[in-house]
Amino acid sequence: MSAADGARVAARGHWGSRLGFILASAGSAVGLGNIWRFPYLTGENGGGAFLLIYLALLFTVAISVLLAEFVVGRAARRNAVGAYRALGGRLWPVFGFLGIAAGFVILSFYSVIGGWTIAYLQQALVAGFLSSDPAAVGATFETRIGHPLTPLLYHGVFMALTIGIALGGVRGGIERWSRLLMPVLFGLVIVLAVRSLTLPGASAGIAFFLAPDFGEVTGATVLAAFSQALFSLSVGMGAMVTYGSYLSREVQLPGATAWVASLDALIACLAGLVILPAVFAFGFDPSSGPGLTYITLPAVFAEMPAGALFGALFFLLLLIAAVTSAVSLVEPFIAFVVEEVGLRRLTAGLAMGALVFALGIPSAWSFGLLADVTLAGRTFFGWMDFLTTKLALPLGALAITLLVGWIARGHALAEVTGDGAHRFPLARLWLWTCGLVAPLAIVWILLAGLGLLPGAG
Ligand code: PHE
Repeated sequence: MSAADGARVAARGHWGSRLGFILASAGSAVGLGNIWRFPYLTGENGGGAFLLIYLALLFTVAISVLLAEFVVGRAARRNAVGAYRALGGRLWPVFGFLGIAAGFVILSFYSVIGGWTIAYLQQALVAGFLSSDPAAVGATFETRIGHPLTPLLYHGVFMALTIGIALGGVRGGIERWSRLLMPVLFGLVIVLAVRSLTLPGASAGIAFFLAPDFGEVTGATVLAAFSQALFSLSVGMGAMVTYGSYLSREVQLPGATAWVASLDALIACLAGLVILPAVFAFGFDPSSGPGLTYITLPAVFAEMPAGALFGALFFLLLLIAAVTSAVSLVEPFIAFVVEEVGLRRLTAGLAMGALVFALGIPSAWSFGLLADVTLAGRTFFGWMDFLTTKLALPLGALAITLLVGWIARGHALAEVTGDGAHRFPLARLWLWTCGLVAPLAIVWILLAGLGLLPGAG
């Protein structure tokens, strides 16, 4: 490293320790995706078989993409745009910009859902859950998220929490809060899983979750499992590139990556063991889709002894998971603005907070005022979700795998082995996965997401 480069890196933020990096990255990975989305996808896609396919794809293809992001970030020690430029040359920064834009858009609707979570937490603490009829809870839910103002208020509170943490800096904000909140999250999910697993009648839910029935598996099941695995590891928008860029050279990346992916999978499995046994124990429908958390679970809490307490713990769990992920949607933009534009962290963070809040307003209204305003059958919220999770994230993941697998192969190999100092027996396999397997799988997701493949909705 040249002296100028050394000074540049020293002036950037950096993690205080390997553990801090792992917890911050796990904080990014573990989010609404694990606790809200994964259990309902499992419920909709037949249970155990979906779980197995999900885990298989997570620990082969998706983990390779995650390692690629960390490697690119740390090799360049720059924000995502700068990192792509340093490793790939002129064309690649486009994907850095795409990722930063995706971060804005994802955060704008992620924060709306994060806001609902705050509202439910408040309800559990103040009034408890009274109705055990999902239809009635569903009607209340729709009235509440359809209100023109209150969801905006909660969306604003969620954004303020997120930006507040991000403004503390890499070490003093993101790392400090991850170190505090991730153990709390882990404790909460364990307490809730024990409660759920000891409910009379829980065994039907356990069987549904763990006993695979491959008769039900279709191309669409595999597709859903794969895109969930990518989304859950936070790859495709430069968040993990940025987090990797703050890591010191001493830490060996393959081991740290395995930790992050394992924690992510573990929390998803535990969330499944919280939600599905409880849903079965009280005879509700596990395949009710996105409403499972916000409609079915409150009905479950109304039936359960001390349900308000467990409800409060559950929504606190969901909120912690969402905030630590949201912070990682902010950081790529802050890093970019600070390093490439030269503004202060404070200015970048406040500007992003205000812009994302504004962009979230039509998403929040997509469940009320603007529910009937659709384009090609999608609401504003639907479009934001589609453009990012179905397009920008797979494109970003494709770009990073091609960069590592083809363009910067030698550089990546040197980075992942510490210039040959550490053995990484899977290095060749990883490079081939990045060069060939992952890109093909991702192109499949992209085509299917655009509706270009018949039969794989
Ligand atoms: N991984 C997060 C989740 O599971 C979502 C996320 C995606 C966060 C991309 C950051 C970047 O909810």
